[in-house]
This record gives sequence, structure tokens and C-alpha cells, in this order.
Amino acid sequence: MEEYYNPVKIVFGSSSLNQIGKIVEKYKLNNKILIISGKTMRELGVIQRIETILEKNENVVETFEKVFANPTFRLIDETTLLARRGEYGLIIGIGGGSSLDCAKCTAILSKNEGNISDYLFNYKNITNSGIPFIAIPTTAGTGSEVTMWATVWRNDDEFKKKYSMSDKKMYAKVAIVDPELTLSLPPYQTAITGLDALSQAIEAYWSRNHNPTSDKHALEAISLIFNNVEIAFKDSTNLEVREKMLFGSLESGLAFSNTKTTAVHSVSYPITALYNVPHGLACALVLGSFLVFNSKVCNENLPEASDRIEKIVECLDSQNALEAKEKIENLMKKMNLPTKLSELGIDENGIDLIIKEGFTKGRIENNPRKVTKNDLYKILINLL
Ligand SMILES: [Fe+2]
Repeated sequence: MEEYYNPVKIVFGSSSLNQIGKIVEKYKLNNKILIISGKTMRELGVIQRIETILEKNENVVETFEKVFANPTFRLIDETTLLARRGEYGLIIGIGGGSSLDCAKCTAILSKNEGNISDYLFNYKNITNSGIPFIAIPTTAGTGSEVTMWATVWRNDDEFKKKYSMSDKKMYAKVAIVDPELTLSLPPYQTAITGLDALSQAIEAYWSRNHNPTSDKHALEAISLIFNNVEIAFKDSTNLEVREKMLFGSLESGLAFSNTKTTAVHSVSYPITALYNVPHGLACALVLGSFLVFNSKVCNENLPEASDRIEKIVECLDSQNALEAKEKIENLMKKMNLPTKLSELGIDENGIDLIIKEGFTKGRIENNPRKVTKNDLYKILINLL
């Protein structure tokens, strides 16, 4: 039996942010609202716009505007404390994946005792529903607006490491997905977040956990993002292209919300942790190589896997996996991104470290083809 589940109400379309007043009134527990974002949202006037709409309905709006890329345990502890003290009736997360993930964790933890490490290390279970949470993405993007998990980084030790906080109670109540909000996204961010969405969609399609509904979303996402990311990179003000990108990213999120990611994301995490490579770029660096690797699926339990890789290759406008890998690399070059690990200061010693930390549980075994340490070594050494 095939199952697909996603409970997030999606409000998609240009100017959909204007609906926020009505949406908040429907879901808030009381009239104190907390907005969680990075600092650019106020610089762009988006926070003021939301404040004006919500304050008309006599809501009290408070903000936390200090989210940074790759949120840490410490940041989540800070926002959780703030939310518990503030007794808010609703939390709005606005921004890229980091802001949405920070808001998502804050919403759930503020109604459950303890801090984030209690849940990640002591296997404490989430028992209570969180504060209602509305997600507003401004990148196309991570798909975090429709997933039940949040990526959090622990970097207070000598080694930074990625963790995932996940629970069915963590889904947003509503995702307001407004392409106009992505018009201000700079070209570099457009490129790397777009490649994250592309990786997620491709991984969802070849994932062992795929289902017919996730498949549909994944294939549409691959085509939309692959065919539009470079145009969005070059012409940031093209609203029609921004709409296609944001819809593609949303579909990528809807796809991998049910399948999870695979080897590409698994290996990307130590690349980000050890070398500060942005998430989407870390994924894109190894995406083409895994496409070729997975095209040689030799697992008799997954007889249909090679057909699925062929379908991905087709969506990437290619005849075979090697050509598709080249197309991904060319796309990266056209967007001024590095395609080699050595361009990011990664050498052979670095490869050993990446291999040591690259086998993320729940992700690597979801890859259609089993990955050994030796396989990963060969992939990474060819990317130097
Ligand atoms: Fe991702």
C-alpha cells in the first residue's frame, strides 16, 4: 500500500502574504504573535508589512530577528526561552530554511519541557502540540515550509555536526508561499537554494521511500527548477520565473517531506560542517556524481531503480547519466559556482573526514544503491 501524508495548508501565489491577517486570526491561540527571522527581512520592509497588517487586528507583535545560517542548539535555546516567557499565541517564521527551522523548533519546544539536546540525545519524546506555526519561505528553497523536520547544528564542540529535530507535531499549520518575496533574493542565494531544491527533488524520486504522490511532485520539481534556476539567477526581477522556481521548491518539499533525502544530502552535511560550504552548494557538488553512481544500480530488490534514474536523466534534458552530470556542472559554472572540492580548500585529508561523517543515518541507507566507504572515496577523489 502506498501512503502519502502532508497536513500543511498551502496558500500559494503572488501577493499571498496579504492573506496573513485572516490566516493568523484563524489559527492564533491568543493575540501575542512572535515573528522569527534573520535581519534582512526588516531591511526589506517585510517585517513592517506584516506588523502593520497584524496590528490592525489588535495583535501584539514581537520579533526575534537574529537568526543566522545553520542555526545552532544555542540559538534554539535562546528562542525557546523567549517564546516560553512571552506566552505567544502564534509563531511566524519568515526567511530561508534557517529561519523556518528555527521557528519550527521554537514553536514545538516552547510547549514541551527541556531543551533541544534533551530531545536529540536523551530520546525525550514530544508529547504536546506546539504553538501554532506559520511558515513563509523567501527562498526557493529548502521546502522547510512543508516538512516536519528542522536542521540544527551543534558547534560548541571542536566539531560542528548536523542534527535533525523531527516530529509529526512540528508541521506548520499554514505555509504562505508568495513568489514576490523571492524577488529580492540575490543571485548567489538564488543559485544555491535552487540547487538544494533540485537535489531534494532528485533524491526524493530515486529514494527507496518514494510513492506515486511524491513521484509526481518530484518530477515536476526537477523540471521546474532545472529549467528556471539559471534564468532566475540572471534576471532576479522576473516574477514569472520566480513563481516557477518557488512552486518547484514547494513541490520538492512536498516530495521529500515523505521520502527524506539520500546519499547526496548525507554527504553534504560534513562538507558544510567542516568547510562552511553553504548547504545547497554542498549538495550540488556531489549531485552529478551520485547520479552516475546510482545509474549503475545493482540491487535486485529495486529492479525499477534504473528506470527511475532514466526518468531523472530525461528531466535533465540528457541522454544518459554522464551527460546529466555534465549538465548539472555546466549549470553550476554558468552561475559562477565551483564544481570541484579543491576550489573550496578541500584536499585528500578532508576527504577522509567527510567520509567519516558522511554516513548519516536515515539518509545514506535511503539511497537506491548501497554506498560503501570505498565508493564514497572514489566519488570524492574524482571531485578534487
Ligand atoms: Fe536540503
